Order: sequence, then structure tokens, then C-alpha cells
Amino acid sequence: MVQIVPSILAADFARLAREIETVERGGASMLHIDVMDGHFVPNLTVGPPVVSSIRKATRLTLDVHLMITDPDKYAPAFIEAGANQVSVHQEACPNLDRTLRMIRDEGARPGVVLNPATPVTLLEDVLALVDYVLIMSVNPGFGGQRFIPRALDKIRRLDGLRSDLGLDFAIEIDGGITTENLAGVVRAGCDWIVAGSSIFHTPDPAAAVAEMRQIAQGAAAVRV
Ligand code: DX5
Ligand code: ZN
Repeated sequence: MVQIVPSILAADFARLAREIETVERGGASMLHIDVMDGHFVPNLTVGPPVVSSIRKATRLTLDVHLMITDPDKYAPAFIEAGANQVSVHQEACPNLDRTLRMIRDEGARPGVVLNPATPVTLLEDVLALVDYVLIMSVNPGFGGQRFIPRALDKIRRLDGLRSDLGLDFAIEIDGGITTENLAGVVRAGCDWIVAGSSIFHTPDPAAAVAEMRQIAQGAAAVRV
């Protein structure tokens, strides 16, 4: 089933537990946590202690997106803190095969992320190792950016590779998702749709999640 995955980057961190309850009420079952180190991307966010506090506050699946230069060094701490799934950037991992296996060995579901400039062909040899592939539809580092339409083509190609190889990893998209472009990404083959501003920067985030779920389910129903 297609999932709407709220990104807490756009939430009010002083009231985080309540923000999380709100999106859960709207029907979210996963929560996206953006980890930035000021090196891989020009911004800073949260570390393992925050993930650990969130873990105590919710039973939602915690989807941790590592935008850091040394994921091998830090992924275990995020898993220990309660991350259920951890994604790493292809661009940050010289030994990607090893990194993905390590995440699974440490007890989380591994995912791999592609920046807008990185082609899906580079993933061919690791697709069998991952539970999900995250396609960035903005350059990572900030919420509230505009969706890059070329991501649609990448999703279609990845969806094609998935069936050609007989694999069943999920396809996730992240960046600039709105009620306007949501149906298009689902029709292109996305399973998990990350959304920050278009959920938390609305007067009623629970209603925003519910509306997006409805749009996504409608689009999935007409997908082949
Ligand atoms: C961007 C982050 C995204 C961000 C998306 O680097 O990876 O998860 O929170 O925010 P919106 O939905 O506002 O583009
Ligand atoms: Zn993200």
C-alpha cells in the first residue's frame, strides 16, 4: 500500500511529540527523520539522542535518512537509538555494498538514496541488497524546495529495473511533494511519499496527511 511519510524537518521541534501524534491521527504509519551533518549537505539537524527520544514517544516506523559524509561510522548509533530503517546516499558510500550489509546486520532495513544528479544505473549491483530506494526530487539539505520533474523519469526507470530483476524493494521519493504532484509520482511507481512542508506547514497536519493518503490511494488504484 502507498504510504505518506511525514518528514519532521518541517515540524515544530519544541512540540515534536504532539506533532507526531497529529500525523499519526491523520493515518501516517512511518515517520521520516532527516539527519544532516553540515558536510555532506550545507545544513545541520539531529543526532541519535533525538531519535532515541522519538522512539520513546511513538510506535511509528522510524525512517532515518542519513545525509552525512560517514554513514558507516554513525549508522549503528541511529539503529541502537531505535531507527527501523536507515538510508544512505550512494554519493557518500565508496563501499556501498558493505555499508548496506552492515545496516542489515545491525538490525535495520537498509535503503539507498540517489541525489538528483546521480543516475539509477549506478545502483544495479546493490538493488538486491536493499529494502528501499529513495529518489531525491530536490537537492538534499533543506525542506520547502521545488520538486525537480526529472525525478519522475528516474522513478519509471527504477520501477522498470525492479520488475526486470524480479525484486520487490520499495521506491520512496523525497522533496517538494504537494497535493498537486503527488498523483504523478504514485503513477510513476512510488510506494512511499515523504512530505514535510505540505504537511506540517498547514493549519491542520492530520487533515493534510489524510488528504494526501486519499490522493495517493486513488492514483495507486489506476496504476497498472
Ligand atoms: C531534504 C530532506 C527532506 C525534506 C523534505 O533534504 O531530505 O526529507 O524534509 O521537505 P519538503 O517536503 O518540504 O520538500
Ligand atoms: Zn529526507
